[in-house]
Parts: sequence; structure tokens; C-alpha cells
Amino acid sequence: MSYDYILTDTPVDGVGVVQLNRPKAYNALSSPLLMEVMTALREFDNDPDIGCMILTGNEKAFAAGADIKEMDGKTQIDMYMGQSLIEHLNFTTLGKPLIAAVSGFALGGGCEVAMSCDMIVASETALFGQPEINLGIIPGGGGTQRLTRAVGKALAMEIMLTDRRLTAEEALQYGLVNRVAPVDEYMNVAIEIAQQVAKRSQVAVRLTKDAINKAYEMTLREGLEMEKRNFYVSFSSEDKVEGMRAFIEKRDAEWKNR
Ligand code: CAA
Repeated sequence: MSYDYILTDTPVDGVGVVQLNRPKAYNALSSPLLMEVMTALREFDNDPDIGCMILTGNEKAFAAGADIKEMDGKTQIDMYMGQSLIEHLNFTTLGKPLIAAVSGFALGGGCEVAMSCDMIVASETALFGQPEINLGIIPGGGGTQRLTRAVGKALAMEIMLTDRRLTAEEALQYGLVNRVAPVDEYMNVAIEIAQQVAKRSQVAVRLTKDAINKAYEMTLREGLEMEKRNFYVSFSSEDKVEGMRAFIEKRDAEWKNR
């Protein structure tokens, strides 16, 4: 499939990359761009040869947020009835893990998209922020919820009320990102992690991702019950039989992803 606002690639076996490609607008998240992102990610999600996905931008910008020119002039009802773009800022419904590889600006919806991915690898120049306050609006793609859970209330307040931006090092220190790497390396680091994920049993990967994401939505008691159910489900897979047999026979497992 050909796209206008994104590029797709499979740089190594098992890994699908979606790259935002509106460099002149710092990859501002317009509706057509987001629709393409969702289509491409769903295609990789349904591809049995792909085990992990990466969403990235370019060196200067992951994404500078929702497209302000598109939102300008829109009313509440326009946003509500038009299935507004923020409906597309949630990637947790994907079955396979998605890694955000972030360099440069990750602002507003850009930061929210990165946070809705399962892991974040940042370049040394990455800058995370939620500057919606400057536009007289509030974050609408999960910023007030996900950032607060990630960095705590005090810092989240400062970021969202004063437009404080977090450097990559700060983001690492506060647990928002997994790794920080030089600009010419961060993509390789993301690919390496994605390969590590892709070579595992995709049944176990999916059940694990599902359980971790639900940790944000449930009480501890509900979460532990759900984890137990996913654990028992993993015992019904062919990969469980293979994984345990391979351990006992001292050989590498050959996953069937079934
Ligand atoms: N939407 C639309 N266009 C954008 C954009 C955005 N979010 N961010 C940048 N652009 C465009 C600019 O309009 C400009 O286009 P033109 O050349 O046609 O004028 C081009 O990208 C370059 O931008 P600047 O000239 O501003 O470049 P700069 O280097 O001086 O500044 C920047 C870069 C700091 C990223 C600045 O562009 C900026 O602050 N962008 C907006 C960031 C923002 O407010 N994001 C939140 C959006 S609201 C949101 O995301 C809501 C939500 O929660 C879902």
C-alpha cells in the first residue's frame, strides 16, 4: 500500500517500522496522517511475520502534536461528531508490542502517542512536553492520565501547567523512557529491543503486554486475578509445551506462535 504521510519498512526480520513523514510540519498529527498510521500498524499487527513494531519520526521531531491548523476553527461538536483525531491517539488496542523511537520534539499529541506505545527509546535530543496550555486547551490524547502515572503528580502539574519540557535524560530519570542513545544510534537500539521481543513466543508476548497494560486500569486485586487468567491461558499454547521441553532438553525453543 502507498501512503502520503508515512513510510513503512521492515529493516530486519520480525520488525515493522512506521515512520511519520511530514517533516515540514514537524510531523504534526493531522487526521489523514493518523489514519495512515493506524492502517499501517494494523497491517503489521495482522502480519504473522512481524513480532514487534516501531513508530518513529525523524531526527528533529517525533511529532509536534495534533495539527493545530486542522483544529483551528473546529467546535466541540465538530470534534465530537467527526470522530476526532484524538480517537486515533491510542495504540494500546494493538496486540503486538509497539516501541516509540523518539528524537527531537515529542510535544502534545506527539508525547501522548509516544506514551501510548509500550516502550520508548529516546535520542539524546528528544524533548517531551504537553504545551496545550499555551493554546488555551488541555491535553486530549491521554496526557493528563499517562504522564501523571509515569512521572507523578507534582512534575505532571508543572509540565502541563507551565509548559516545562523534559530532556531525554530527565525522561529517563523519571521513568518515562526505557533508553537514551545518541541521535545516530537510537533507531538501532529500538530495532535491537524489537528484535528481542520478536524472537519470543508471540502468544506469551501478547498475553504479557495485555496484562501489563491492564495494570493501569484495574485495582491490584483485579489485576492479580486477570494475570492469573492470562497465566493459565499461556498453559494452553503449543509454545508453553515447547518452551518447557526446550529448557529441560537444554536447547533453544522453536516457537510456533500458537
Ligand atoms: N500543528 C500544525 N503545524 C505545526 C505544528 C502543529 N502542532 N507544529 C509545528 N507546525 C508547523 C508550523 O506551523 C510551521 O509551518 P509553516 O512553515 O507552514 O509556518 C512549521 O511546522 C515549522 O514550525 P515553526 O516555524 O514553529 O518551527 P520552530 O522550530 O520555530 O518551532 C516547535 C518548533 C517548538 C515544535 C513549534 O512549531 C511548536 O511549538 N509547535 C506546536 C507545539 C504544540 O503546541 N503542540 C500541541 C498541539 S495541541 C495537541 O497536541 C492536543 C492534544 O493533546 C491532542
